[in-house]
Amino acid sequence: MAPSPFVFLVFLFSLFSAVLSQPPAPPKGLLVDCGAAARYQDGGLTWLPDASFVSMGVAKSLAIPGLLRQLQTVRTFPFRLSEGPRKFCYSFPALRGDKYLVRTTYFYGGANGGSAPPVFDLIVDGTFWAVVNTTADYEKNMSSFYEGVYKARGSKLAICLGANVYTHSDPFISAIELIILEDSVYNTTDFNKHFMGLVARTGFGHSGILRYPNDQFDRFWQPFSDGTQAITSSQNVSVSDFWNLPPVSIIGTPLMADQPKPMELQWPLMSLPNSSYYVALYFADPSSNSSRFFNVSINGISFYSNLLVTSIGASVFSRQWPLSGLTKLTLTPSVGSNLPPLINGGEIFSLLMLGGMTITRDVIALEHVKKNIQNPPLNWNGDPCFPPEFSWTGISCSTRPGPRVRVVKL
Ligand SMILES: *[C@@H]1O[C@H](CO)[C@@H](O)[C@H](O)[C@H]1NC(C)=O
Ligand SMILES: *[C@@H]1O[C@H](CO)[C@@H](O)[C@H](O)[C@H]1NC(C)=O
Ligand SMILES: *[C@@H]1O[C@H](CO)[C@@H](O)[C@H](O)[C@H]1NC(C)=O
Ligand SMILES: *[C@@H]1O[C@H](CO)[C@@H](O)[C@H](O)[C@H]1NC(C)=O
Ligand SMILES: *[C@@H]1O[C@H](CO)[C@@H](O)[C@H](O)[C@H]1NC(C)=O
Ligand SMILES: *[C@@H]1O[C@H](CO)[C@@H](O)[C@H](O)[C@H]1NC(C)=O
Ligand SMILES: *[C@@H]1O[C@H](CO)[C@@H](O)[C@H](O)[C@H]1NC(C)=O
Repeated sequence: MAPSPFVFLVFLFSLFSAVLSQPPAPPKGLLVDCGAAARYQDGGLTWLPDASFVSMGVAKSLAIPGLLRQLQTVRTFPFRLSEGPRKFCYSFPALRGDKYLVRTTYFYGGANGGSAPPVFDLIVDGTFWAVVNTTADYEKNMSSFYEGVYKARGSKLAICLGANVYTHSDPFISAIELIILEDSVYNTTDFNKHFMGLVARTGFGHSGILRYPNDQFDRFWQPFSDGTQAITSSQNVSVSDFWNLPPVSIIGTPLMADQPKPMELQWPLMSLPNSSYYVALYFADPSSNSSRFFNVSINGISFYSNLLVTSIGASVFSRQWPLSGLTKLTLTPSVGSNLPPLINGGEIFSLLMLGGMTITRDVIALEHVKKNIQNPPLNWNGDPCFPPEFSWTGISCSTRPGPRVRVVKL
C-alpha cells in the first residue's frame, strides 16, 4: 500500500500568551486504583477504590516497599484453565459519544505467588484491544501501561481482562483511568470505526516524563535520549491552537540539530508491526523572528515538504500512515534555509478496528435473565456476544443485519 496522501498541516495563529501560573483543573473522568480500600488524593488527583465498578476478583496488597501508591494494591481474578476462555469485566458509567483516554496499569509484584506475571487479553466493550504481557517490564522492576483513545458507545464502558490459552495464572490489574478528552483532541480519527492504541508519545527536547499538571489530560510524555542538542525556548508559546493540546513545556522545548543539516531520528525506538498508524508531530521555533523551512520524511517517504516553522508553531499529522519495522524520521533543511531543523513533540498510535457490540436492548434483557437465575454461568459478564471467543455460554449471536443476540438457551 502506498502511503496515504492525506497529511495535514495546522499552522497556529495566536502568539505567546502567559504561561500557566496555577495548575489546570484535574482531568475529567475516573481514576480507579484497583484493590484499594478507600478514596485518596495523590498529586492533586483523586483516586477511587474499584469495588463499586466490579463484582469479581480479589483485592490484594503487595508487600513491597517504595511502590507508587497506585501500584501498592491489585485486583486478581481467579480462574480455572479448564473452564475455557473467560473474561472479567469492570463496568464504568460513561457518556455516550465522549472520547476517553483509557489507561490500564499493571504491576504484578508476585500477586499470585508466582515469579512471572501472567499474560492475558485486554478488552474494551466487545473489542479485543491487546495482549497484556508485562514480563519484560516486570523483570526490570517496572510497571506497564496500555493506553488508548476510545469513544463511549453507550452509557456504560466495560474494561475486561480475558483469560486465554496463554494465561497461566490469575489475571491482575493495578489501575484504570478513564479521562474525557476535549472534542478537538485527535478529532481527525473516525472513532465510530476505529480506536487508537498508544505506541509512543515523546517530548523530544524535554528531559524526564511530563504529565499532569503539565498535561491537562495527564497524558505521559516520555523523553527522547539521543545525544542531539536540546534547547529551551524563551518564548511563552500558546498551545490552545494545537488541536491535540500538547503541554506548553513540550512546545517550549525543541530538540534542534546543531547545524543546518539533515537530522535523523529513530522514533519510536521499538519495531512496529506492519499496520496503519496515526502520526502527529509538533514543532515550534524558540527564536521569535526566524523562519525555518525543512522537509519531513518518514522512512525516506516524504511526509511534508517545505514545512515553515516559526515561533507560532505548527503541527503536521496523518490519519493513517503505513509503517512496519523500525521507523526513521528525517528532517532536511530546504534549499536556501540555513537554520537547523528542530522538533518538539510527537505522538504515534496504532489504529485498531472496533469490534462488534451486542445491541443494548438485548443486553438489558440478558442482564435481567442473569439477575433471575440462581447460578448464572461464570462467564456471563461484559458484552454477551463479543469478542466472539469470549461470548457468554448458552446464547448464540447472529451478526446480520447488525450484531445482536438472537437466542437464549439455558
Ligand atoms: C511475554 O513476553 C516475554 C518477554 O518478552 C516472552 O518471552 C513471552 O513469550 C511472552 N509471552 C506471550 C504469551 O506472548
Ligand atoms: C528489583 O527489585 C528487587 C526487590 O527490590 C531487587 O531484589 C532486584 O534486584 C530488582 N531488579 C532490578 C533489575 O532492578
Ligand atoms: C478539529 O478541531 C478543530 C479545533 O476545534 C477544528 O477547527 C477542526 O475543524 C476539527 N476537525 C474535525 C475533523 O472535526
Ligand atoms: C513570558 O511570561 C513571563 C511571565 O508571564 C514574562 O515575565 C516574560 O516576559 C514572557 N516572555 C516573553 C518572551 O514573552
Ligand atoms: C504490509 O502489509 C501490506 C498489506 O498486507 C503489504 O502490501 C505490504 O507489502 C507490507 N509491508 C511490509 C513492509 O511488509
Ligand atoms: C522581528 O520582526 C519585526 C517585524 O518584522 C521587527 O520589527 C523586529 O525588529 C524583529 N526582531 C528581531 C529580534 O529581529
Ligand atoms: C523537499 O521536498 C520537495 C518535494 O518533495 C523536493 O522537491 C525537495 O528537493 C526536497 N528538499 C530537500 C532539501 O530534500
